[in-house]
Amino acid sequence: MKTKKQLVDELKKEQILPQEELVELLSGWDHEEEEYLYQQARQVRESVYGKDVYLRGLIEFTNYCRNDCYYCGIRRSNAHAQRYRLTKDQILECCEQGYALGFRTFVLQGGEDGYFTDDKICSIVQEIKRRYPDCAVTLSIGEKSYDSYKAFFDAGADRYLLRHETANCEHYRMLHPRQLSLENRKQCLWNLKEIGYQVGCGMMVGSPGQKPEYLVEDLLFMHELKPHMIGIGPFIAHKDTPFAGQKSGTLDDTLHLLGILRLMFPHALIPATTALGTIHPSGREKGILAGANVVMPNLSPVEVRGKYLLYDGKICTGDEAAECRLCMQRRIEKTGYHVKVARGDYKQRLIL
Ligand code: SAM
Ligand code: FES
Repeated sequence: MKTKKQLVDELKKEQILPQEELVELLSGWDHEEEEYLYQQARQVRESVYGKDVYLRGLIEFTNYCRNDCYYCGIRRSNAHAQRYRLTKDQILECCEQGYALGFRTFVLQGGEDGYFTDDKICSIVQEIKRRYPDCAVTLSIGEKSYDSYKAFFDAGADRYLLRHETANCEHYRMLHPRQLSLENRKQCLWNLKEIGYQVGCGMMVGSPGQKPEYLVEDLLFMHELKPHMIGIGPFIAHKDTPFAGQKSGTLDDTLHLLGILRLMFPHALIPATTALGTIHPSGREKGILAGANVVMPNLSPVEVRGKYLLYDGKICTGDEAAECRLCMQRRIEKTGYHVKVARGDYKQRLIL
């Protein structure tokens, strides 16, 4: 049997391993082995992106959602969620504040909210791009038709985040009601790619029912999709969902996966997520040191932050955007990396 270090070296070289070796990488790490993984992951990431960490300003513009995903705190059936929508002007104010703070990517995220028709989304995207032509706009608003995605792209959207959540059909069924299908989720990702977006997929770590074999399926699906961005973070239960009381994904499992993903996808933009910062006070710093190169501070107005609660205990719900920005800067500098004021697009080639 190969040692963990041998597997890490091979993954670094080949960017893929046979299924049974990928399973090996998902558990049984000792301290020295995981340090080796993170060190190799940092080396790969620095060969492409140097020491830069990119900022994305996250604007959570609606928590209305027509879906009922079992894990999600803003699911349709959660009658305790206090619903809100930002107006176009409020969204533009977030961008104005964000631009002054050095953000050059705005991420518009929300539930699947029918109020925001394609025309409304297009007009918001167009106005952001008109005012800030040097900025990228990322959308994260769920499953839409090919034509809708195309319309948003033509309006100027650059990137789209749509986590696939799990690449295994049975597991997908455990996490979602009948109306949603893995097949459609995957098709959306392929459509987004075809249209020309920089595309992000990903999954929660430690979601109920997840098995190592399923995570390997995730890795293999990603190997096929070749995403530009990969969002992973621990699952954290929300008290008003069917998964209330289920245990969270762990810091270690998430960090191991971040390291593995960095070796498999040297060029990917990988955030150290808020969920990672929620399960451990220095989770995001550890994420950066395990291979992540993006952080997504919150730009949503403070009045609504506490209402976009996907899971219990979410951090940064009381802070002003400027505070979050400074806090993030300090955290990143402690890791030896630095915040880069730039769009932070996907890089194709190595800068060796
Ligand atoms: N509606 C859009 C979509 O479906 O892609 C974007 C919003 S959705 C809330 C964003 C992501 O939050 C999901 O893809 C999911 O992975 C994550 N999420 C939801 N509930 C979570 C939980 N309980 N713990 C951790 N992450 C969660
Ligand atoms: Fe729609 Fe979570 S169920 S955003």
